[in-house]
Amino acid sequence: MRPARPLGFVLVAVAATAIALVLAPRARAGVDHRSAAQVDVGQIYLADCAICHGSDGKGTNRAPSLVGVGRASLDYYLTTGRMPITNPAVELANPRTPISRHKPYYSPPTIIALEDHILALTGGGGLDIPIVDPHADRAPGGDLFRLQCAACHAWAADGGALLHIEAPSLHDATPTQIAEAVRVGPGQMPGFGTAAIDDHQLSQIVNYVTYLRHPQDRGGDPLWHLGPFSEGAIAWICGLALLIVTIRWIGEKT
Ligand code: HEC
Ligand code: HEC
Repeated sequence: MRPARPLGFVLVAVAATAIALVLAPRARAGVDHRSAAQVDVGQIYLADCAICHGSDGKGTNRAPSLVGVGRASLDYYLTTGRMPITNPAVELANPRTPISRHKPYYSPPTIIALEDHILALTGGGGLDIPIVDPHADRAPGGDLFRLQCAACHAWAADGGALLHIEAPSLHDATPTQIAEAVRVGPGQMPGFGTAAIDDHQLSQIVNYVTYLRHPQDRGGDPLWHLGPFSEGAIAWICGLALLIVTIRWIGEKT
């Protein structure tokens, strides 16, 4: 059987490419990996934000003023990749549809530097980033979640179009982003002050929301929650194993 060997080589080449893809550093389009020292955040503000929020941050007819907007809101919008809006025709088409979450456009140090720049530009003030206690009891958080959040985000935090507002799933938000959203009330979501939800209750809610992602885990195999990269790698390894079996099977037939 002449063609078997070349086919085997092709499969090996495919496998080698697959390994290279898994091991290669993954460049993410549009994501800035420079350190804060290397970028001029004033320039970023003018290039990416000023067209809508104004060069002085006081807003335009396209976007609200950032004066008095605290670090909590800036951080929520920048770390969830909601800002800058790069596709207003889509993102702002329907006021009922919230601006969607994206990969952040800037690295974490650039985000902090950009927040500093905007706060200096607008005179500062507003809410600071809330601090979450990872040890707060999540059971009372569940009661608060069902009372205050489930009407919009659904019982399992999967999101949905309830109460005539489309609310996103909460499964991608970090603990800090959850706390920021509760205090800030982004877009159509109401903000909750300390009178409605005190700082301890906020931590309880955050811990309940992150628990909702894997409520079925009762000491189960944690392998499957290693994150998208590891899970992708595992998929590749399974694919490679299949290729190797196929190559050996072809080899045995020659
Ligand atoms: C295409 C226009 C556009 C661009 C560009 C843009 N924004 Fe916005 N931004 C908006 C709109 C519209 C809103 C109101 C969104 C809402 O209410 O859901 C908003 C809201 C915000 C808010 C929330 C304000 C509040 O009241 O809490 C922050 C913070 C923000 N933007 C920061 C930024 C930053 C920082 C940049 C640049 C990196 C940026 N935006 C770029 C249109 C824009
Ligand atoms: C009236 C409906 C409503 C209620 C009540 C509500 N939310 Fe929201 N929530 C929204 C909407 C709409 C958004 C999208 C906001 C935007 O435009 O960025 C949102 C966004 C969020 C996000 C950001 C998710 C992401 O994309 O990463 C989090 C986290 C969140 N809400 C948590 C909560 C929690 C916790 C509560 C209860 C304390 C709550 N929400 C109550 C409507 C609601």
